[in-house]
Amino acid sequence: MAIRTAVIPAAGLGTRFLPATKSVPKELMPIFDTPALQYVMDEAIGAGIEHLVIVSNVAKPGLEQYLVPSADVVRRVAASGREELAERLGRIGSTVSTSIVYQDQPRGLGHAIGCARAAVGGEAFAVLLPDEIMGDSSLLMQLAAQHDATGSSAVGLKRVPPEEVSSYGCVTTTAAPDANGVVQVTGVVEKPRMEDAPSDIIIIGRYVLDAGIFDVLDGLAPAPSGEIQLTDALLERALIGRLTGIVSDIERHDTGTPFGWLEAVIELTLKREDVGPRLKAWLESRFR
Ligand code: G1P
Repeated sequence: MAIRTAVIPAAGLGTRFLPATKSVPKELMPIFDTPALQYVMDEAIGAGIEHLVIVSNVAKPGLEQYLVPSADVVRRVAASGREELAERLGRIGSTVSTSIVYQDQPRGLGHAIGCARAAVGGEAFAVLLPDEIMGDSSLLMQLAAQHDATGSSAVGLKRVPPEEVSSYGCVTTTAAPDANGVVQVTGVVEKPRMEDAPSDIIIIGRYVLDAGIFDVLDGLAPAPSGEIQLTDALLERALIGRLTGIVSDIERHDTGTPFGWLEAVIELTLKREDVGPRLKAWLESRFR
């Protein structure tokens, strides 16, 4: 069955981006003029997703304002004679149905996904971590097809240099990837030290999870950090042979740190037809 719903966990307070995140949710930091969240929503919609579930936090009202603009603001701008601007301000953030649910305690990624349970209903669903921007929807579509073919959860994977592994979930696999990059995942460990890492293959922030994962999350004990880790639920799936992965070389930008965000702004803006050539010329003149 096609995957209809995607969960986007966006409840973190973005402390790495202070002071900007005192008022701007990290997910709305612009990539030139378009919030990172919009890229991620567009990726999901491009993969055929019909319902987005944003896991927010009451301390981030900007997310709601972005997704559902204030009718009052739009009315006031229209009343001031700027009809065209009012129309642009009133455009809602998504062309598909959107639900907002809340996680108000920092209890980890697994807990955040659990908060989406009622909104998802009893179906398999996608998860897109908005810290990562992908070049297109292809990986998500491959993961959905993989879930369709096997009924198992499927995770997006990537090979990275050994020194990067400790920032991510890292997997053990049975064999080398097949021609489509598909592997059976037999183990998962969250952020291992470089010397303890079981491989150089990390989990990137795209998942298609079976509906039963909510029960697994409910049954998990918190990690030593106090958080409910999605990785622990994935490990349970891996240990019973119900987790596959796709090792991908998709274009990917990790905007989870201010420097990664800045790199993404430059790289993605360079790719834009409207402003890319001007940015390239300016950068070249700057370093000539
Ligand atoms: C989370 C997951 C981790 C995954 C990563 C991908 O970590 O816990 O397994 O590899 O996203 O971005 P976070 O970046 O939230 O610390």
